[in-house]
Amino acid sequence: MKSDAKISRYREVQGTLNRLLSSDTPVITKMATFNCILKEVFDFYFWVGFYMVHPKKQNCLTVGPYQGTLGCLSIPFGRGVCGVAAQQKQTQIVPDVHKFSGHIACDSASNSEIVVPVFDNNQTLIAVFDVDSTEFAAFDDVDRAWLEILLKEHFGK
Ligand code: SME
Repeated sequence: MKSDAKISRYREVQGTLNRLLSSDTPVITKMATFNCILKEVFDFYFWVGFYMVHPKKQNCLTVGPYQGTLGCLSIPFGRGVCGVAAQQKQTQIVPDVHKFSGHIACDSASNSEIVVPVFDNNQTLIAVFDVDSTEFAAFDDVDRAWLEILLKEHFGK
């Protein structure tokens, strides 16, 4: 997808999310709404969802709200793209997941992905946002910038 088209769609998503969500909206409701809106707007989003920091197990992610085929239930920090994003607290863009050492293949149809850490208003990591595509190299710095902005607007304030 061309950058200009992507940017205008992300602007549209930003408006929709701002209309629908407020600071009073429960976290799970926000997550479910993010998944639905983004997956509807972007054809190249194949699997979209949140892996939440496990409430009891240290350094472990557990699957949260998502849309797509069955996701694996738990991911230790440091494992797979999600685990690396959680451990490093940094967005990961992987153009070809088959070349990423330790990638967790929940669905063999996925070929590229982006994983963005999600922080609350105390800058504590609460989840990672994972988007997989069947296209190779589907995600770039436009996705990174916009997803980081949208997640900060709704989870970090
Ligand atoms: N791709 C992820 C695993 C989760 S799923 O794709 C739903 C990873 O390697 O972190």
